[in-house]
Amino acid sequence: MQRKDLLGLEGVSRSEIEEILQTAVQMKKILLSGNKKTPHLQGKSVVTLFYENSTRTRVSFDLACKYLSAASSNVSASSSSVSKGETLLDTARTLDRMEVDILVMRHPMGGAPHLMAKHVKAGVINAGDGMHEHPTQALLDIMTIQEKMGPLDGMKIAIAGDILHSRVARSNIYGMSAMGAEVHIAAPQTMMPYGIEQLGAKVDRTIDEAVDGANVIMGLRIQKERQSAGLFPSIREYHKFFGIDERRVALADKDVLIMHPGPVNRGAEISSMVMAADNCVIDEQVTNGVAIRMALLFMLTRANN
Ligand code: NCD
Repeated sequence: MQRKDLLGLEGVSRSEIEEILQTAVQMKKILLSGNKKTPHLQGKSVVTLFYENSTRTRVSFDLACKYLSAASSNVSASSSSVSKGETLLDTARTLDRMEVDILVMRHPMGGAPHLMAKHVKAGVINAGDGMHEHPTQALLDIMTIQEKMGPLDGMKIAIAGDILHSRVARSNIYGMSAMGAEVHIAAPQTMMPYGIEQLGAKVDRTIDEAVDGANVIMGLRIQKERQSAGLFPSIREYHKFFGIDERRVALADKDVLIMHPGPVNRGAEISSMVMAADNCVIDEQVTNGVAIRMALLFMLTRANN
């Protein structure tokens, strides 16, 4: 891989995605080996800079650093000089001067990691920028599908829910399409962004249409923190018209995989029954998230040498 940063999956080629996935498969072996300590990142340093809440993304980057022997440090906006009024670029330059090799960044504004990447020597990984992209999540999603069902070529993948606010949906539309899948999306009209089909997805009118014969169904969280108000009348009604329940799963292919990036609003975007079924791979997604982040940290530090 010949790049300084990973800011999104837009424009990332199939061969580059495949190289990341192959490395992640090796990293997963380390992760599951019972002896999770290797020198892959020895002598390297990583800072995770989170301006938004996170559990799995942040912890998985943090553990990935520790398993591969990097020196790592976490910064969160509420406990840093950001809350004293420092600008994003001044924070970035300060960290850069500490000889940080990789900056992992989550920010509520789309484009913030891109701005950062232009001004620092360190490699920048986008861990979610506003409603724009979340490339490491899409890579772990693709890895999970490939692990369970082989190559994505010709698969029908249905992504349902709050597409408007979802960086996960955007990165997956780019990544899954690059891997040969046909991505169908469904959302209440108030949560469907105008022109999204230009990214390569097929927009369906109803969730029943999107899940019909699908090989994968991915639910998305209703992102209440990004909604002003009134995009749907009630959780009950949302679940009835757009939730993933057993009736809808029955419309899909008999070997369908059920996915969700988490955190889940149980009973809203996905029912507890569906979450408990054997074909629901939310837990595997979490494990693969660590493997993908181990792979990327390793590949980017090597490329930046
Ligand atoms: C996603 C995110 O932060 O965009 N979560 C995650 O990284 N696992 C999706 C979400 O918050 O709904």
